[in-house]
Amino acid sequence: MDIFDEMKKEHKGFRKLVEDITETTERAVKTREKKFMELSTDLMAHHKAEEKVLVPVLKEHKETKIMGIEIEEEHHVADQIVYELRDIPVDNENWLVKFKVLKEIMDHHMKEEENEITKKGREVIEKDRLEKMVGKFEKEMQKRKEEMMAKA
Ligand SMILES: [Fe+2]
Ligand SMILES: [Fe+2]
Repeated sequence: MDIFDEMKKEHKGFRKLVEDITETTERAVKTREKKFMELSTDLMAHHKAEEKVLVPVLKEHKETKIMGIEIEEEHHVADQIVYELRDIPVDNENWLVKFKVLKEIMDHHMKEEENEITKKGREVIEKDRLEKMVGKFEKEMQKRKEEMMAKA
């Protein structure tokens, strides 16, 4: 189990939440709100953890440096949409339209992390190091989630 397996496992949870939210109707306000809060907290913590644990290591190698920068840029765009979604009532007709844009960005981003970045990352970063990153990633996720809960 290395950092890329851990990321993929979390992505699976995000895909499920996104699917659940997409299926809610405007009338299912409470469910939509609850699931979106869960998704947004976990997603932003996941982004921060990747930026702290994985991105700096990708940037150490010339073959993966650009991928590290791309990850940061795409997180930035996704987080921005998450903030905007938080400001719109979930039963507003535009909410789901905007949410679908977030879904597209996330789909593209997760696919890239799971394919090209995982493949190249495993080529250039030592196996042992990738395995040790799992613990760090989990710790970072927990820390960020607690921070966000305290603020909410
Ligand atoms: Fe990810
Ligand atoms: Fe990411």
